[in-house]
Amino acid sequence: MTLEEEILRRRTFAIVSHPDAGKTTITEKFLWYGGAIREAGHVRAKSGKKFTTSDWMKIEQQRGISVSSSVLSFPYGGCQINLVDTPGHQDFSEDTYRALTAVDSALVLMDSAKGVETQTLKLMEVCRLRKTPITVFMNKMDRDALTPIELMDQVEHVLGVKCAPRTLPIGNGKAFQGVYSFIDDSVHLFQPDSDTGEGEIRKVTGIDDPKLDEWFDAKYLAEFREQAELAMGAMDPFDREKYLRGEQAPVFFGSGIANFGVKHLLDNFVDVAPSPMPREAKERTVQAVEPRFTGFVFKIQANTDPKHRDRIAFVRICSGKFLRGERVTHVRTGRQVRLAAPTAMMANDRAVLEEAYAGDIIGIHDPGLYNISDTLSESEALAFQGIPDFAPEHFSKVYLEDPLRSKQLQQGLRQLSEEGATQLFYPINGPIPVLGVVGVLQFEVLKFRLEEEYGARCRFEGASIYQARWLAGDEREIAAFRGEHSFDLATDKKGNLVYLCPNEFRLQTVEKNYPGLRFEKFHTE
Ligand code: G4P
Repeated sequence: MTLEEEILRRRTFAIVSHPDAGKTTITEKFLWYGGAIREAGHVRAKSGKKFTTSDWMKIEQQRGISVSSSVLSFPYGGCQINLVDTPGHQDFSEDTYRALTAVDSALVLMDSAKGVETQTLKLMEVCRLRKTPITVFMNKMDRDALTPIELMDQVEHVLGVKCAPRTLPIGNGKAFQGVYSFIDDSVHLFQPDSDTGEGEIRKVTGIDDPKLDEWFDAKYLAEFREQAELAMGAMDPFDREKYLRGEQAPVFFGSGIANFGVKHLLDNFVDVAPSPMPREAKERTVQAVEPRFTGFVFKIQANTDPKHRDRIAFVRICSGKFLRGERVTHVRTGRQVRLAAPTAMMANDRAVLEEAYAGDIIGIHDPGLYNISDTLSESEALAFQGIPDFAPEHFSKVYLEDPLRSKQLQQGLRQLSEEGATQLFYPINGPIPVLGVVGVLQFEVLKFRLEEEYGARCRFEGASIYQARWLAGDEREIAAFRGEHSFDLATDKKGNLVYLCPNEFRLQTVEKNYPGLRFEKFHTE
């Protein structure tokens, strides 16, 4: 296979969902279809526990897939699928957001009874910012669900993406009978007692085909036809160009647990989802199929062994091919580094990864050199546009317990914030630094690491801050704002001005009073 063919067959994506929407269930079905696990249900059969980072590592023993805590790779339909993990539940953190900067598209998974939920909304903001193409799967149709129009209306109004239904359900809950596919005008019958949940697929001439009246219950068929007519009247047909621009999402309905609609989703996803997209560097746009290797660091994982400071840097390859042992330039420092892939993190049958292509994610040994957003390049000095900082939602002030360890604390805080494990803010009117994170459990990890790795025992105290927003806009208004709100202002690690706003009401007020200012949720250098 040529370099270009290898690259064009990659599909790198993430699943965006709220906890419990069915991400684990669907992931496992994908792996099953990809031939990566022998039985659907295998992955979960671990005391019904949630599927968290550590579980990804356990699946490593299964043949044919490479698993790291960051990506699941498996072949499907002639493509190489890279499913990048978006940690949810207790693991929710900046890494969850950053994972979305490493993908070319996303699958938004919704619980059809609940509609859009908070975590989906937060993650979708990142997709919108990057204009990531998204596909929507309405899961749990075997349970009582909102109507398709209600669900798609939420996607359009709350998530801000137009919908193009590719399938629509006939009935739901106990009366779920199947889906109508607009892709090839066929009906897929739901057979919950069959092995895969998939029953027969029957071709029809359109939604008014009289054969449908023979096969389906009149009440649910009438509801389906009404919903289909509404959808066709209000929504544009699927347009791949709009999808690739992140403006329109193809929508599918099904049941992950019954394995119904999942293959249809995967087949169509592989068909329309983008191969590795071009990436913007400061100097120019880099095409994935360019022969020279380039990539950027989107995640740094501390070693789980506290005796070693070593870390793993996860790199998304943007162009060309990675060869194990190759020398590339670390652009920020100008240093030459040798890329050795860690065995344990990127194992395929426990063998070290020998080569990888644009679209793939590799884990490389980090002796403390890498920062989030760093670029690696085989020849040209390029810098990919940085990964934004994401407005944290939980805040703590840090007090040192042993005054003699002040230097260690400063060093620890600086390194942990460089690594992207936390954001550090220095109030302009006070000496005590404020830590900000997006997932509350990060505080426990930080406290532990400051003590274990840097010997700085400290106490965290909650700070009464609602949200952090970067200030941008009119210089004179910034100066006026600074005069009036200095007690709630801080600088971030790069010296940018950040408003640590005390409550939601105050944020709304200042947004109204300072129309020339932007209070940004994302900040890119
Ligand atoms: P998550 O990773 O997004 O958090 O979701 P997960 O797949 O763990 O699914 C959450 C719960 O929803 C699980 O039930 C799972 O079985 C159920 N579920 C997933 N897809 C469907 C579906 O299509 N229909 C129905 N009815 N349920 C679905 P649980 O009781 O929390 O766990 P378990 O006892 O099944 O292990």
